[in-house]
Amino acid sequence: MSLFTPLPLRGVTLRNRIGVSPMCQYSSTDGFADDWHLVHLGQFAVGGAGMVLSEATAVVPEGRISPQDLGLWKDEHVDVLARIGRFVRAHGAVWGSQLAHAGRKASVARAWEGGGPLSPSDGGWTPIVGPSALPFDTGYQTPEALDDAGIARVVSAFKDAARRALAAEMQIVEIHAAHGYLLHQFLSPLSNTRTDRYGGSFENRVRLLREVVAAIRSVWPEALPIGVRLSSSDWTEGGWTVEETTELATLLEADGADFIDCSSGGLVPKVHIPIGPGYQVHFAEHVRRGSGVATAAVGLITRAEQADTIVRSGQADIVFLARELLRDPHWPLRAAHELREEISWPAQYQRAKNRV
Ligand SMILES: Cc1cc2nc3c(=O)[nH]c(=O)nc-3n(C[C@H](O)[C@H](O)[C@H](O)COP(=O)(O)O)c2cc1C
Repeated sequence: MSLFTPLPLRGVTLRNRIGVSPMCQYSSTDGFADDWHLVHLGQFAVGGAGMVLSEATAVVPEGRISPQDLGLWKDEHVDVLARIGRFVRAHGAVWGSQLAHAGRKASVARAWEGGGPLSPSDGGWTPIVGPSALPFDTGYQTPEALDDAGIARVVSAFKDAARRALAAEMQIVEIHAAHGYLLHQFLSPLSNTRTDRYGGSFENRVRLLREVVAAIRSVWPEALPIGVRLSSSDWTEGGWTVEETTELATLLEADGADFIDCSSGGLVPKVHIPIGPGYQVHFAEHVRRGSGVATAAVGLITRAEQADTIVRSGQADIVFLARELLRDPHWPLRAAHELREEISWPAQYQRAKNRV
């Protein structure tokens, strides 16, 4: 088993274990993808990735992080994404999207404009929603606590977005339940202080995410996989833990999920995260060994040998790369060369393959 061993997930086979980690581009108008997304995402398929996931894609407009987020909240969004999908698939990668709702972290400026909270007069919106009326940080809007009808609308929005993802020729969806966004906010006792059936006990805090997974599975073909990105730890006292992540992985698999993408953090500001090469890989390993569910590792995985070792040693089934793929979108082709793996290159590039 190596980085370049194909991975079957239900009826879909990844040509290798390298996934493009979702990366917000903050370049959409009214949620629409455009030529930027075609070139940005297309380059990774040309570069040999096994799976290309779009950035966090909002299931409702009020669930965007910034006004420029990508969306799948209306049928009109489908066509451009399908066009991108045809390109990505034609170049051998599995195509999908990360479905997201920002919850209390919605309505902020895009990253390169500071990322700070936006009021409606600055182009943001109100209200924003969350499990409880607790803001992310000082200066951020206080979310409205979702009532039962609001929760039901969130579940339906994820389900409808999955239907549109299918229309956009996607073969995989990843549910964003990490980085302090809405579904993670329900998981963690630090942001969820509800006393109804969506708060309090572990069973109650995980209920919304389980409902979302089950709702998506009800419309998503049996032959296609679903992933869930979780923050494996809030890295702070009293927060969500890797033990809970592992317990949840087993439940999510029963609900229809196929792998857990093990990220971390993002729920509360100003926590210390011990960042270094592969700093989250041990979470993927813990969850995989503890639950038997397939996992993805992500976070400062930059070298071919490092990625290969993660797969060979059984720490994770998939590695996701983000920033290193921005530096070198052809990283998988380079990695195969370094690891002396024989893989096919795009016909147009083959004259560069043998370096002579
Ligand atoms: C430009 C950029 C945008 C990102 N947007 C998202 C996102 O939309 N969804 C998500 O789950 N993570 C997002 N992330 C986090 C990455 O997916 C990844 O987990 C993180 O960067 C660590 O991996 P790396 O060390 O390979 O970059 C983003 C990261 C970057 C650099």
